[in-house]
Amino acid sequence: MSGSIDVERLAARLEELARIGAIEGTHGCSRLAATDEDRAARDLVVDWMRALELEVTVDAIGNVFGTRAGRTDGPPVVTGSHVDTVARGGRYDGNLGVVAGLEVLEAWNATGVTTERPVAVGVFTNEEGVRFQPDMMGSGVHQGFFELADCLAARDADGLTLGDELARIGYAGDAEPFTPHAYVELHIEQGPVLEEAGVTIGAVTSVQGISWTELLLDGQANHAGTTPMRLRRDAGLVAAEIAAGARRIALEVGADQVATVGVMELVPGAVNVIPGSARLTVDLRNTDDGALREAEERLLELARDLAEGEGVALTERSLVRLSPVSFDPGTIDLVERAARALGHDVLRMPSGAGHDAQMFAPNCPTAMIFVPSRDGISHDPSEFTEPKELRAGVDVLHDVLRELAG
Ligand code: GLV
Ligand code: MN
Ligand code: MN
Repeated sequence: MSGSIDVERLAARLEELARIGAIEGTHGCSRLAATDEDRAARDLVVDWMRALELEVTVDAIGNVFGTRAGRTDGPPVVTGSHVDTVARGGRYDGNLGVVAGLEVLEAWNATGVTTERPVAVGVFTNEEGVRFQPDMMGSGVHQGFFELADCLAARDADGLTLGDELARIGYAGDAEPFTPHAYVELHIEQGPVLEEAGVTIGAVTSVQGISWTELLLDGQANHAGTTPMRLRRDAGLVAAEIAAGARRIALEVGADQVATVGVMELVPGAVNVIPGSARLTVDLRNTDDGALREAEERLLELARDLAEGEGVALTERSLVRLSPVSFDPGTIDLVERAARALGHDVLRMPSGAGHDAQMFAPNCPTAMIFVPSRDGISHDPSEFTEPKELRAGVDVLHDVLRELAG
């Protein structure tokens, strides 16, 4: 632990970020990737990086790195996360990992710490994947998992491309990607596990597999009063039955399987019109790739049967498919040891959420540190983590980075 870590300064930075895209009457914010709000948040982080005398670079997918030199050149140890949020998000998701990295470097500046290796804080583009898919886009391109050109060409619901939007907000750079010496990310858990166990620090072992599919249903809009039930081709009904089926399939597949229909749009969306078309998204996740595949297959089979039964055309589009990822045993041990040495209880656990860390894991020693989320709530403005838990997380990050940076 460093005595120079200042959790009030860290909370003040989270507060300042949360003012950008603030959702009135809540503690949350709305900052979709490559919007004006995202630009303002990036600009603020870059100001902080410059004030800490970090070397700031931006790459072609808009990732920002602030690097503190080491005694030797060579690949830096990287920490960080993202500052984009979901449409109604909290102030901790992603943002914590960025401000915690800056806090560690500020503490080192204050006490004159020098490290063997450089240390960089990364801000990764479009982690959330709400406006543009896939998610974890910036880290995924950086680590060669996604193609740069495909991601720059990704379009939002209004047809705007990520590439044009990055250029518009001033974050289309040309820095070269690199393989870090190691990667470690502090993040809120975003689930109930730590709180229920009464444990402060999660040593994350893995990230579960993620499957996102968009389903388009095309039936026939018609008059709600005059159309007999036997003649309907109701896209809305099929969408609702798919949503109910997704829940059932998750429960039947069992274990860690989860299923969410997060988007369901009915067109034209009127009280007296049978929905002629519908768009829905299905998010399936599991720590076991085989079980996840089973859930995917069953869900698509069900959707096809339901659509056929109602005389509705079905179009399927995969938005994201990521297999489960394991973190590096040595780096997980390091997180656990650092946390225990600081007097914290530690739980080894998989991550239910996707994270930039999973893109680094195949290429360099990688791990994550979790701190609790109150009531297990995240992706909502009510997301909250206690200051003493933030402090614990930054202290662990500090000691892990110190060890990795040498
Ligand atoms: C990212 O936040 C995800 O897990 O969907
Ligand atoms: Mn996140
Ligand atoms: Mn998130």
